Amino acid sequence: MTDISNNTSGQTWDATSYSQHADYVVTYGKDVVKLLSPKPGERILDLGCGDGALTEYIGQTGAEVVGVDASEDMIEAALARGVNARRIDAYQLPFDQEFDAVFSNAALHWMLDPQTVLACIKRALKPGGRFVAEFGGHGNVAAICTALIASLQFRGISAKHRHPWYFPTVEEYAHLLETVGFKVDSIELIARPTKLPTGMANWLDTFASPFFHGLDDDIKETVMDNTLNLLSHSLSDGQGHWSADYVRLRVTAHLPTS
Ligand code: BEZ
Repeated sequence: MTDISNNTSGQTWDATSYSQHADYVVTYGKDVVKLLSPKPGERILDLGCGDGALTEYIGQTGAEVVGVDASEDMIEAALARGVNARRIDAYQLPFDQEFDAVFSNAALHWMLDPQTVLACIKRALKPGGRFVAEFGGHGNVAAICTALIASLQFRGISAKHRHPWYFPTVEEYAHLLETVGFKVDSIELIARPTKLPTGMANWLDTFASPFFHGLDDDIKETVMDNTLNLLSHSLSDGQGHWSADYVRLRVTAHLPTS
């Protein structure tokens, strides 16, 4: 989900609101689990496990899964499911050559120092271990970002330090993986327009709080209204059905055996 030390974004997490407005994250995440192909007895780290829904799903294969997330609220929700979950910052993973695989879904775009995160993932993996992840890639939620930035600018507010996400290109992330010591098996950007079951205002409330951080309520309301108005031309069908312009970066990589 989010990280503590390298994220000054002001994003806050609420497990109930997350499951209410973003249940598609788990549905789509199951495709990434297929790519992971967990085996009984394997030790797997679920990095940014959120409320543990996918941690639990991976565990049903007979793999031994540990979920970590920086959000206390998410970890409480994960523990309530009965999964093994711990509140740990992704930049301070305490694991040393312990896992057969590290899995991460819809989390890495919140971590603004990807090289450090990849180095921690590498250290957590056994030699030959694999890394399977999906997160926002280059162009992800581009219309949403542009509408937010324009709406803030219209009120004289700079969005420069409010944009909280890392959305790399294939070339950039592949290079980073190789620099850290991974061999890339597959890496691609996938455009995946995603229906928002409870609409754009709820998506913005759930995920885009850094853009609104510290604003007075009346200004926040105007920025929100203008953003929705701008986005209605591209991301709403006019009958109240909204979608988000998601672009996923999907990657599989492994460490050499020695
Ligand atoms: C994503 O999953 O791509 C995403 C979710 C929330 C905010 C930004 C990106």
